[in-house]
Amino acid sequence: MEQLKIYGGNRLEGTLTVQGAKNSVLPILAASILVKGESILRNCPDLKDVDAAISILRHLGAVVTRDGKDIHINATHITKCDIPDTLMREMRSSVIFLGAILGRMGEAVLSSPGGCELGPRPIDLHLGALRALGAEISEQGGNIICKSAKLQGAEINLSSPSVGATENAMLAAVSANGETIITNAAREPEIMDLQDFLVAAGAKISGAGQSTITIIGGGVGKTVDHRIIPDRIVTATYLSATAFVGGRVELLDCMPEHVATVTDALQAAGSEITIRGQDITIKSNGALQAISPVITRPYPGFPTDAQPCLVAASVKNRGTTVFIENIFQNRYRYVEELRRMGADIKLEGRVAMVTGVDGLTGAGVSATDLRGGAALVVAALGAAGETTVSEIEHIDRGYDNIESALRSLGADIQRISS
Ligand code: EPZ
Repeated sequence: MEQLKIYGGNRLEGTLTVQGAKNSVLPILAASILVKGESILRNCPDLKDVDAAISILRHLGAVVTRDGKDIHINATHITKCDIPDTLMREMRSSVIFLGAILGRMGEAVLSSPGGCELGPRPIDLHLGALRALGAEISEQGGNIICKSAKLQGAEINLSSPSVGATENAMLAAVSANGETIITNAAREPEIMDLQDFLVAAGAKISGAGQSTITIIGGGVGKTVDHRIIPDRIVTATYLSATAFVGGRVELLDCMPEHVATVTDALQAAGSEITIRGQDITIKSNGALQAISPVITRPYPGFPTDAQPCLVAASVKNRGTTVFIENIFQNRYRYVEELRRMGADIKLEGRVAMVTGVDGLTGAGVSATDLRGGAALVVAALGAAGETTVSEIEHIDRGYDNIESALRSLGADIQRISS
């Protein structure tokens, strides 16, 4: 089993280029199923979730090769329409393949995605969107079966702006007959990146980034060469780490407008943030102050995925910082592990109250989920002594070589096999 061993106390100094976005490359890998030819994706991160998505594409019949940060997919011959249970279990967000498989094959079979570390992960909004497009959906023996000889464009009103449901609706609507209008759509940057990929492939889509997206069906047909946007949550993670331990870090190629709510919070806490084009420089003396409540909301609100790292970076703030988690039911599982390091955090349902302590002490902790695990790394960087973080496969799902990235900034961190 691998662990991360971290000796806290080093300031972070230097320059880092931010990896490509996990939550963009995954739906775009799904979208490549719709292209009966070659898609080239650039700036792809090296992640376990990307490996899982590539396994699904290969299972379906696509030819996929990886060359560093470039992934080449040839989906000319897609011969299957099912995602095996083993692959579904590897990655909960495999549900994002549903709309593309249905659009390409007229049928899609996948095992119902179990819950995950963040609580139950229903897909009612995904299925409702596909039904609106004419899909017949049944459940048999733990499998979800979607069928449609030909999807028909429709009005799809999402009762909540689900990122995945928006993406599935877009991917199915591209292959439908006629016009689809998605209202109350998610507005995340990854939705805009997916639209850019699909438009480059020949789809007629507009509106991504706003609450209404319009798709004129008719499929896609052109070879695509697309660069994945930077990962805004990884950006938020390294900014939070620098704010917490102190130092001066320049993050390159990170699309600052995508993390405006995070940089605003870190500035309010006392960090100095400078933005130049696509680069962000953060300077901090490591002595932060409490800020007004941090409330997670759908984009462009404060991102739920950045909540754990900002909580970790707030544990020594002078005063008390309140966090309200509105997106996932169970996103504070990592807090118990922070308490083992000496953090003073009270939980009451969706509310976390973080009261500043003088310091943290290194301990043996376990990653509970992807972003919770990253929060433990942030805390360990600012703790006295040694911390070992176990269950780091959670972290590897979303961070490309986190230890190399942080070591390049001066952190004392290494991956060990125990
Ligand atoms: C995407 O998950 C991201 N994952 C998540 O990132 C992110 O936290 C989330 O969007 C919110 O921004 C990927 O893009 C691969 P949702 P997704 O559908 O699509 C409920 C990370 O750490 N809901 O917007 O699953 C759901 O239970 C991951 O990188 C329904 O009730 O998120 C949740 O409470 C974690 N019914 C809320 O909506 C549905 O049909 C938001 O979910 C779908 C969702």
